Amino acid sequence: MSDGSRSLPTWQRLQAHAQTIRHAHLRDWFDGQQGEARGAGFVAEAAGLTLDYAKNRVTDTTMALLFALADEAGVSARRDAMYRGEAVNTTERRAALHMALRAWPEDGFHAQGVAVAGDVAAVLAQMERFAYAVRGGTWRGWNGRRITDVINIGIGGSDLGPRMVCRALAHLDTEGPRLHFVANVDGSDLAAVLARLDAASTLVVVCSKTFTTLETMANAHTARTWFLLHGVPQAQLASHFVAVSTNRQAVAAFGIDPANMFPFWDWVGGRFSLWSAVGLSIALAVGFARFRQLLDGARAMDRHFAEADAPQNMPMILGLLDVWYRSFLGTGSRCVAPYCEPLELLPAFLQQLEMESNGKSVQLDGAAAAQGTAPVVWGTTGTNGQHAYFQMVHQGSHWMPVDFIAALEPVHPMPGHHGKLLANCFAQGEALLRGRTAQEVRALGVQDEALVPHMVFEGNRPSNTLLLQRLDPYHLGALIALSEHRTFVQGVLWNINSFDQWGVELGKQLAAPIACELDGGPARPHDASTAGLIRRALAAASAWQG
Ligand code: F6P
Repeated sequence: MSDGSRSLPTWQRLQAHAQTIRHAHLRDWFDGQQGEARGAGFVAEAAGLTLDYAKNRVTDTTMALLFALADEAGVSARRDAMYRGEAVNTTERRAALHMALRAWPEDGFHAQGVAVAGDVAAVLAQMERFAYAVRGGTWRGWNGRRITDVINIGIGGSDLGPRMVCRALAHLDTEGPRLHFVANVDGSDLAAVLARLDAASTLVVVCSKTFTTLETMANAHTARTWFLLHGVPQAQLASHFVAVSTNRQAVAAFGIDPANMFPFWDWVGGRFSLWSAVGLSIALAVGFARFRQLLDGARAMDRHFAEADAPQNMPMILGLLDVWYRSFLGTGSRCVAPYCEPLELLPAFLQQLEMESNGKSVQLDGAAAAQGTAPVVWGTTGTNGQHAYFQMVHQGSHWMPVDFIAALEPVHPMPGHHGKLLANCFAQGEALLRGRTAQEVRALGVQDEALVPHMVFEGNRPSNTLLLQRLDPYHLGALIALSEHRTFVQGVLWNINSFDQWGVELGKQLAAPIACELDGGPARPHDASTAGLIRRALAAASAWQG
């Protein structure tokens, strides 16, 4: 059993180095010429994104050590193996080749030795034809009505990515159908959407890699019943249902014509799948040309990650900083604050991406991962967060790094707004860095000494600022691919498999027999707490069901 990265010489050196950094204050590193150099030096650019990472609790020495650690841990070698389509998802013996989905044919990706460009191009062409037909009005509902509304039924990776992207790009298109997303098995999710729609002009995309996921299948079956109850003849359901899946058999068993199925492959992980046919709802919402721009932005980031030297390599820098905070300075979370309202769903998307990928306690060889792995990723858009939890971010007893994300050009040119938005974004980073000393509080004219400690900000709280030139498909694609590769770098440093998710299995398995019991099936043995909850639910059900 290995000790993973922890036994690497540079890991040990970083542990010692972290002790010196703990006692340093970021403010002091911004004095005079040293500050100028820092401001200019700790910047990276790629695919139209600019990362300013000067406000991190790192020095040139820290970064040099982190780059050396990446070398020793073999990040580049593991990245190259991933790009070559080797089975880097070791527990499932699969490649993780999402880069192939946004590649150009000449990039020549292979999954475990098999060329994939032909299959990828064929599905993209199928998506393009379908998006064109729906948006152009040649694909119609059963009685000839144009499709005005599309419901994407899926969950996890079959929901969060397309939902986030459709929300982020909603300002670009008002001509396509309206997109709705239903994920939760809580009937109130589907009911709220169906209540607003007309079956004759609604299309459902059932999106599930496995086509066995409980929530998605329950929602898909209920949606089918709704169509039948709302006058769509059984024989005409095909005009209202398409599927996105790797499981052709299950799609056919559900009753969707395999001709209306958009396939993808086992080398596409759910949380990395929005670039595949899972992105069909994106193409329907904003048009295929914009979907292609999204892919192109991601491809630009893929190339940057593959080719740039570590000190300029944005995913490498961010992944290393994440590991620095988590494993060497002991932080437990990272706050993501997009100062860009259309990116409001980005934190939720990143939660699955990072926490499902790296929320693991075993290393690749099964040995315990003793150092912390994935931190909690959380956040909301700014400036809203400032008026909610930023009190804790500034003065709470635990500090955490913050990622500020903003677009330089406004999404909406509402006069006077964008400057205020960016000003707040930049000011938060500055305040977190500098803090405010007791002396500075007194200099403000505060007379009451008792108030002074309450008004002191410790500062020394790190942040990244990530700037997109504008929020368009290309830059959004680059931002998402950056997040994927950053997550990969973390996983290599923690020596874990970022591409499986065994941790979601047990709860799913236990839910099935409990669901039978709640449906009146025989009682099964449970711990006393769970048995008590089941009894209460059964009692409530007999009351509300009469
Ligand atoms: O339960 C977790 C998970 O397997 C995710 O990894 C996945 O994105 C999601 O469920 C949905 O799975 P599917 O696309 O197979 O319905």
